[in-house]
Amino acid sequence: HGHLLGIEGLRADQISYLLNLADGYVDQNRAVKKTTDLLSGRTVINLFFENSTRTLTSFELAAKRLGADVINMLVASSSIKKGETLIDTAMTLNAMHPDVMVVRHSDSGAVKLLSEKVNGSVINAGDGSHEHPTQALLDALTIRRRKGDLYGLRVAICGDIAHSRVARSNIHLLNTMGAEVRLIAPPTLLPAAVERMGVETFHNMKEGLEGCDIVMMLRLQLERMQGSFVPSIREYFRYFGLDQEKLAMAKPDALVMHPGPMNRGVEIDSELADDLDRSLIRTQVEMGVAVRMACLHALTQGTLNEEPAA
Ligand code: CP
Repeated sequence: HGHLLGIEGLRADQISYLLNLADGYVDQNRAVKKTTDLLSGRTVINLFFENSTRTLTSFELAAKRLGADVINMLVASSSIKKGETLIDTAMTLNAMHPDVMVVRHSDSGAVKLLSEKVNGSVINAGDGSHEHPTQALLDALTIRRRKGDLYGLRVAICGDIAHSRVARSNIHLLNTMGAEVRLIAPPTLLPAAVERMGVETFHNMKEGLEGCDIVMMLRLQLERMQGSFVPSIREYFRYFGLDQEKLAMAKPDALVMHPGPMNRGVEIDSELADDLDRSLIRTQVEMGVAVRMACLHALTQGTLNEEPAA
C-alpha cells in the first residue's frame, strides 16, 4: 500500500498529478463537485492525537464525498487516556481493516512508525514539527489557481518556522516545483538545519518581502515553546506581524496566506486577514476538501506511485 507521509521525496510530476486531480474535484463556485462512489465499501479512519478544526473536518467530508465509510477517532474519547500506546491503538484499529488511516500526532515521525505496522494506506495529517503534506498541497492548489503556475514565483514564509510542519512541507513542495522560497523570522524561530533547506533567510520583514508574489504567515506555536519565547506578543507583531505597511514591500498583486488557526494581531493584522482582495485564507480552506479527495483517490486507486511517463 502507498502512503502519503510527507512532501519530501515526491517528484514534481506526482505533485502535479495530485493538484490536477484535486482541481478536477473543484467546481466554478470553488465548492466540491457532486459526490462519487469511488470509495464505496471502503473504510477511512481519522486518528487524531492532536486537535484539529480544518484538517479533520475536511478529511471527513472528502471521504464521505467519495462514498467511503468514515470513523473519527479522537484521542480525548479513546483508550489512549487509559494508557494504550500509539502502536497498540493503531493495531486495534488495523484489525478493523481500514483502507486508509489519516493520522495526526504531536511527535515528528510517529505517523511513519504507525505506517510500518498497519496494512492499509496512511496519510500524515501533521506530525510534530515534521510534515503536513495535505496542507502544502492545498496551499499549492490555492496559489496555482490564482497565479497559474508555481514555477518562478517568489514566496515568503514568515514567522515560527522552527515549529512548523506546514513550513517544512511547503518548502519541499515549492522547491520541487521551481518557486523561489524565502524564510523570514527572528533567528530564534528558524530551524537549526536551515542552511540545508535550499532557501534564502531574512530577519527583517521589509527586506524579505521585497518583490514577493505570495506571503505565507505562520501561527506562533506557543504551545511547543515550553516558555522559551522571550519577546512580548506586542513586540513580535511590531517586527514580524504582517500589516498593510510591510505588505507594501511585496509586489502590488501579492497575496497573503495563513494555514490557520491564526492569532489575530499576533502574526497578522486582523483587517488584512479579512481583506478579500489580498487574503487567500478562506480559499485555502475551500481547497482543503478537494485536495484530500485527491489524496484519498490516488492512494486507494494506487495511482500516486507510478513511474513518470518516459
Ligand atoms: N491548518 C491546519 O492544519 O488546521 P487544523 O489544525 O485546524 O487542522
